Amino acid sequence: VCVCVCVCVCVCVCVQQRVNAYLIYSSSVAAGAQSGIEECKYQFGWDRWNCPERALQLSTHSSLRSANRETAFVHAISSAGVMYTLTRNCSLGDFDNCGCDDSRNGQRGGHGWLWGGCSDNVGFGEVIAKQFVDALETGQDARAAMNLHNNEAGRKAVKGTMQKMCKCHGVSGSCTTQTCWLQLPEFREVGNYLKEKYHRALKVDLLRGAGNSAANRGAVAESFSSVSRKELVHLEDSPDYCLENRTLGLPGTEGRECLKKGKNLSKWEKRSCRRLCGECGLAVEERKAETVSSCNCKFHWCCAVKCEQCRKTVTKFFCVKKGENPPRPGENNSWN
Ligand SMILES: *[C@@H]1O[C@H](CO)[C@@H](O)[C@H](O)[C@H]1NC(C)=O
Ligand SMILES: *[C@@H]1O[C@H](CO)[C@@H](O)[C@H](O)[C@H]1NC(C)=O
Ligand SMILES: *[C@@H]1O[C@H](CO)[C@@H](O)[C@H](O)[C@H]1NC(C)=O
Ligand SMILES: *[C@@H]1O[C@H](CO)[C@@H](O)[C@H](O)[C@H]1NC(C)=O
Repeated sequence: VCVCVCVCVCVCVCVQQRVNAYLIYSSSVAAGAQSGIEECKYQFGWDRWNCPERALQLSTHSSLRSANRETAFVHAISSAGVMYTLTRNCSLGDFDNCGCDDSRNGQRGGHGWLWGGCSDNVGFGEVIAKQFVDALETGQDARAAMNLHNNEAGRKAVKGTMQKMCKCHGVSGSCTTQTCWLQLPEFREVGNYLKEKYHRALKVDLLRGAGNSAANRGAVAESFSSVSRKELVHLEDSPDYCLENRTLGLPGTEGRECLKKGKNLSKWEKRSCRRLCGECGLAVEERKAETVSSCNCKFHWCCAVKCEQCRKTVTKFFCVKKGENPPRPGENNSWN
């Protein structure tokens, strides 16, 4: 009877701890996944595939789940977002059981500098993010192996973009010695880094014939482990994303805005009309709209601000079906 009671108590304590861990981190995990999605939308703003909502479901159950380059990016950026937010929240003191990583403080880091200060605790973020994000992958097949690999690439991206910050010491700022620590970059940096990795993602060729037998699982694991954990991997080629496909949740590029003129456009942005419209068999339509905004504001003593209303014509470009009549002047073609 005694033994039985003991076992019961042990089980209860375990379950309780798991539930608590879940509650402590779940809001950070959710916020992190959300920031991954927002970064995805930013990074792909002028691409044909622009991170549509359907693509963001990380569920492993849909038979229509794709395993292409874009899937790889979604997994990596989400996983990175979760790790990033957990790490930052840890540094902000949101969790009782975690703080700065000062494990190397006092040690020599390199020529003329020592570890010191408060390094962001990416080790903590990595462990917790892995527990939460990788747990979504329940399968044992090649797709699951691909997703797990890309989840890890996302976490490596956060680690790989950490910045070394230093502080000088010495008589009147002579900087004879420095103490340095590692700090998270802006999340944008992680996004830029992963977008590069996306362009150079590697195709692993084994989907066909790789069943679920133990031997095949070994072969699958081996193929993935031969690729560096920093690189994104995919199994399938991507469609061209020009046409709408409702089954796959793809909107197509008709109706999308593109950029043509403008100060300071990147090469990628300047080519967006060709990429989104021209190469998809669509025409580019120019639409003008007038915007009204406050301007020339003056401060009057005392205390009022008076502004003028300035009208400005803005020109935007959109992809439309060829042969469609352009709107006549005066016709309502407003947009947000
Ligand atoms: C962690 O940070 C995010 C925003 O960056 C916030 O929404 C979330 O609530 C934080 N989590 C905790 C436990 O404080
Ligand atoms: C949508 O994609 C599916 C899967 O690739 C394909 O079978 C189907 O024909 C496509 N539908 C359209 C309208 O292109
Ligand atoms: C133009 O872009 C560069 C780099 O993206 C940036 O540093 C600069 O501030 C931008 N200039 C303007 C006027 O927006
Ligand atoms: C223009 O269209 C929008 C929505 O399509 C509508 O809400 C608005 O009232 C229209 N304006 C005019 C002047 O027709």
